[in-house]
Amino acid sequence: MGAGASEFVVVANRLPVDLETLPDGSTRWKRSPGGLVTALEPILRGKSGAWVGWPGVPDTDLGPIVEDGIELHPVRLSSQEVADYYEGFSNATLWPLYHDVIVKPVYDRSWWNAYVEVNRRFAEAASEAAAEGATVWIQDYQLQLVPKMLRMLRPDLTIGFFLHIPFPPVELFMQMPWRTEIVEGLLGADLIGFHLPGGAQNFLYLARRLAGQPTSRGNVGVRSKLGVVQVGFRNVRVGAFPISIDSGKLDELSRSKVVRDRAKQIRKELGNPKRIMLGVDRLDYTKGIDVRLNAIRELLEEGRIDPAENIMVQLATPSRERVESYIQMRGDIEQQVGRINGEFGQVGRPVVHYLHRPIPREELVAFFVAADVMLVTPLRDGMNLVAKEYVACRSDLGGALLLSEFTGAAAELRQAYLTNPHDLDGVKDSMVEALTQDREAGRRRMRALRRQVLAHDVDRWAKSFLSALARDSVAGSALLVD
Ligand code: ADP
Ligand code: G6P
Repeated sequence: MGAGASEFVVVANRLPVDLETLPDGSTRWKRSPGGLVTALEPILRGKSGAWVGWPGVPDTDLGPIVEDGIELHPVRLSSQEVADYYEGFSNATLWPLYHDVIVKPVYDRSWWNAYVEVNRRFAEAASEAAAEGATVWIQDYQLQLVPKMLRMLRPDLTIGFFLHIPFPPVELFMQMPWRTEIVEGLLGADLIGFHLPGGAQNFLYLARRLAGQPTSRGNVGVRSKLGVVQVGFRNVRVGAFPISIDSGKLDELSRSKVVRDRAKQIRKELGNPKRIMLGVDRLDYTKGIDVRLNAIRELLEEGRIDPAENIMVQLATPSRERVESYIQMRGDIEQQVGRINGEFGQVGRPVVHYLHRPIPREELVAFFVAADVMLVTPLRDGMNLVAKEYVACRSDLGGALLLSEFTGAAAELRQAYLTNPHDLDGVKDSMVEALTQDREAGRRRMRALRRQVLAHDVDRWAKSFLSALARDSVAGSALLVD
């Protein structure tokens, strides 16, 4: 296969933009959902590389295009492949398995075959885009076989892989019928990155047990002390690189007059309540939207919060709308919202304001600025960028962050109101604590949170991963990359 022209290639299931067909049949590009795109888009924009991915609609043949300064290489998926590889194996097998089996993963052999087939197509597309000796950075759980496939096609490349979701405990990963193939697929990379040291350590154990390869035994650090797996003559390094956001840019946007004015207007439109609670999520069962709604309902029932003074806004982006567990969850959440408003709202004054649509970036930032308490309550989340976005937007040191202990972000944002989403009484108490926090104590917490988020931005994340990837591997040694 001939070499392409790009020195740096990102490979992800999705392109950073989705092709959208309008009612009149014309098409336009719109930003893709989720944290992966939020994090990687600013990196690629500054590096003039190429992005290989699916344009978000089936059966579409498109050649390479340049959109907003990024060279895009669309990969075609048929409707059947969208059903089997994307909705099936990626989002009804891997996603629930890697998120602590919150819903039961489905193991379907035809989905696995489609996953292998589509991963091969991505490997071929990456191979066609990459120049001789280029660096290719493969992203996330949808493409875990690509590192090995690409290495076989192009041994000249430097290959990195980053997992944006949690890597599960060994006992759960062992359920996977194709567990050895997945571990061997990942071992095609030169460097495999996880958010947390725990994920990296789980993987090292599985590389020994399932792939039978010798590995280092010491603890993996954060951006330091990489683990090593010896695969033949190659050393595959394994590390923890917690992802982040473009904090400086969000900070700046949140200080702008238009955002400040819009935040005031939002409070007014909501009836100038004493306290606004905010949730911002893809509509996903991992996010614990039900947890926060249950907590609010019980607090209202017990008279611990007053519906005339405390309201909640839930902004929920539609996600994976044809996958059964998502259809069910949407129904449940909309029923919960209806129940709370039915019991505690007034005409023209609901307690929970719920929008099921993506919100433009600037408007979202205005909501962050307007909110007194940000509710981030996932049952499991690899990182959760929304928590970091909220902090970046609070240069006024106002607001409080309620944060689930089961997010990657909780490892860094220690001054948030940390809570266990499985303990409803605990969530309720933390919510009340955050709603009634002393102003000065709140400012101290927010100042400490902001120090963390502003110092560790997405640029630093990418640099720490890519500089480790560029460094020569040294078997068994503890490497410092920060
Ligand atoms: P995930 O990657 O699982 O979706 P993250 O919290 O890491 O979760 O990232 C979600 C990204 O999507 C964030 O950048 C967030 O601002 C954005 N987002 C989430 N909900 C909405 C929404 N309703 N409208 C617009 N953007 C949203
Ligand atoms: C998470 C995943 C990404 C995914 C995003 C949106 O952030 O880690 O890989 O792209 O959710 O999900 P979707 O299925 O719409 O691509």
